[in-house]
Amino acid sequence: MEIKILPLPKDKQKAKVSDESKLGFGQVFTDRMFFAEWRADRGWFNAQIKPYEPFVLDPSCLVFHYSQEIFEGLKAYRSQAGEILLFRPEMNGRRFNLSADRLCMPEVPEPFFLQAVQELVYLEREWVPSMAGTSLYIRPTMIAVDPFLGVRAANHYYFYIILSPVGPYYTSGFNPIAVMVEDQYIRAMVGGTGEAKTGGNYASSLKAGVEAKKKGFDQVLWLDGVHRRYIEEAGATNIFFVYEDRIVTPPLEGSILHGITRDSILKLIPSLGWRAEERKIDIHELMREVRSQKIKEVFCSGTAAAITPVGSLSYKGETLEINQKRVGPIVAQLYETLTNIQYGKIGDPFQWVRRVSPVSIKERLHHVLTQQQPSKKH
Ligand code: PLP
Ligand code: COI
Repeated sequence: MEIKILPLPKDKQKAKVSDESKLGFGQVFTDRMFFAEWRADRGWFNAQIKPYEPFVLDPSCLVFHYSQEIFEGLKAYRSQAGEILLFRPEMNGRRFNLSADRLCMPEVPEPFFLQAVQELVYLEREWVPSMAGTSLYIRPTMIAVDPFLGVRAANHYYFYIILSPVGPYYTSGFNPIAVMVEDQYIRAMVGGTGEAKTGGNYASSLKAGVEAKKKGFDQVLWLDGVHRRYIEEAGATNIFFVYEDRIVTPPLEGSILHGITRDSILKLIPSLGWRAEERKIDIHELMREVRSQKIKEVFCSGTAAAITPVGSLSYKGETLEINQKRVGPIVAQLYETLTNIQYGKIGDPFQWVRRVSPVSIKERLHHVLTQQQPSKKH
């Protein structure tokens, strides 16, 4: 699909954060955004990359009332050689469409999704930070914009992508977090929307997060909604448990997100000589095995949070330390290996990394770029 590239006037060019150690997560946005529309009678149209700006939306839009919304999260990394690298973006394209299907939203053809991500990131490449641990977070989103108060799927959607240079998701960086097993609220049930990346899942999880924070925890670990017994996932991450002879994570059975980091770790584990296992984990068994130190390390995985060690687990008032609240050797090695691949520091045996370069996007972008004023340097 032809993506129109609109000029970026000088007054829409922002100053970049000069101290990349202060980036935090999701607070700074780049100069441009991608935007496209879909109507039931036209399909996709009006695809463009334009200056980052607010939308003017009717207060009755369906998204505001019934949460017909989906999103994705992926990152562009700057290698030491200055290349811009995407990590398995086609997986995000595929998952975006699984979410779209669940929320009765239109499919975004995968090549269109990838073209939009690549062209936008290429144009905004100066915004990809270079300090260790930083990256450009990419947030593709789709919202229902029909002005209508009846409950139905919309006939008009916006698909847009915004970019945010980021540092670590947790302010503590790569340090063990305190996790509370949630026994009152649930996040999702099989048959619900837990597998979809849709805003409602996050809105409904806020209360548990707020209450856990008040008690001094960094994150909530969800149990299944039926038995309140089986481990699901932790906040905006999947979770792994390291035993002496294997690394275990809950299976994808319809209520947890199909994490792309999770899938990558499951593929990395055997390549590092360890055994990976997907199986149901009972919370009572889990606490027993942490208590008896059969479980050596615990960690969370996600795009925003990368690999985050868990330093303690609390369930019904009992708090157990894991690996004396220190970063364990397995977590450290997985973190090193995964991030080294993402930042292009080591070989890419699984061919996960996609280079964003003028060669990988269309020739025409060259013409547009050479006709544009060079962007302001700060
Ligand atoms: N689970 C939830 C609920 C999430 O929001 C995320 C983040 O995207 C993940 C798991 C991890 O998924 P991924 O590794 O694809 O980022
Ligand atoms: C991601 O890891 O990309 C996420 O979507 C997490 C986000 C909810 C902050």
